[in-house]
Amino acid sequence: MAPPAGMAHRPSGCGRRNWVPALFMTAAAPGQKVALVTGASRGIGAAIAERLAADGFFVVGTATTEAGAAAVSERLAENGQGRCLNIADQASVDDFFAGVAEAPGMPAVLVNNAGVTRDNLLLRMSDEEWRTVIDTNLTGLHRMIKPVLRGMIRARWGRIVNLSSVVARMGNPGQANYVASKAAVEGLTRALALEVASRGITVNAVAPGFIRSDMTAALKEGQMQRLLERIPLGRVGDGADVAAAVAFLVSDQAGYVTGETLNVNGGLRLG
Ligand SMILES: NC(=O)c1ccc[n+]([C@@H]2O[C@H](COP(=O)([O-])OP(=O)(O)OC[C@H]3O[C@@H](n4cnc5c(N)ncnc54)[C@H](OP(=O)(O)O)[C@@H]3O)[C@@H](O)[C@H]2O)c1
Repeated sequence: MAPPAGMAHRPSGCGRRNWVPALFMTAAAPGQKVALVTGASRGIGAAIAERLAADGFFVVGTATTEAGAAAVSERLAENGQGRCLNIADQASVDDFFAGVAEAPGMPAVLVNNAGVTRDNLLLRMSDEEWRTVIDTNLTGLHRMIKPVLRGMIRARWGRIVNLSSVVARMGNPGQANYVASKAAVEGLTRALALEVASRGITVNAVAPGFIRSDMTAALKEGQMQRLLERIPLGRVGDGADVAAAVAFLVSDQAGYVTGETLNVNGGLRLG
């Protein structure tokens, strides 16, 4: 049944938009670049948001719930704002960007960090498990990149960083959906880099190895021990390790780096 007039579909988790989108961009100080980080409520995304704020960006960090977005706002204080967003839901993305395309101060930096896993052996993997991962980790990037590109092209400057994973090239049993999504993210990164290079926009990926977060907390003690034995640097990474790589790629210093995937994996996989 169609929603009543004026009650367009709202994504679960995010309430009805009650803010003027352009305002979150103009909350930045004059001349301050806006960095949009998806999935900034925890894990790697939270570390990236904190690092970019420390580096002087005004950070818009997203979470999938209003409560999560409020917590991001609290953490970033005057250096940014939290916003509710579900990248697997086109209506949520449309809501998020409504009016922003015409506003000054569009994000100069987009970090596509949000991602999910739904692990299972392929023979047992449900269509839902497959779809959820592809729709979030891959199609979600397509949804986010299109609206921010217009502002970057107008500004003739932009930085896009997509979160891949070491498993994109290693493979990993039980993660066919996740591995496929991340391998596709690296391909998307290369293709888009070529499309927008002439406009002063760089597009890169960061491929973390095993990083301490909710996503890896599910590993059992034995699994973690076996994993550590395979990591030449002898430790699991943390969010700050990944954030440092992202900070470099979005900086002015990285202006001649595009279409690359930067490994942050303690030597687990080289090349
Ligand atoms: N941890 C690792 O070892 C590792 C290794 C390689 C690659 N990565 C990649 O690094 C990224 C971050 O991983 P993580 O370990 O930090 O993950 P995490 O701790 O599970 O956090 C995931 C983040 O993404 C958000 N999110 C989930 N679904 C979303 C959706 N549909 N729309 C918008 N946001 C959504 C979550 O928001 P809520 O808090 O609101 O749920 C949360 O902020 C992912 O792309 C992951 O694939 C991680």
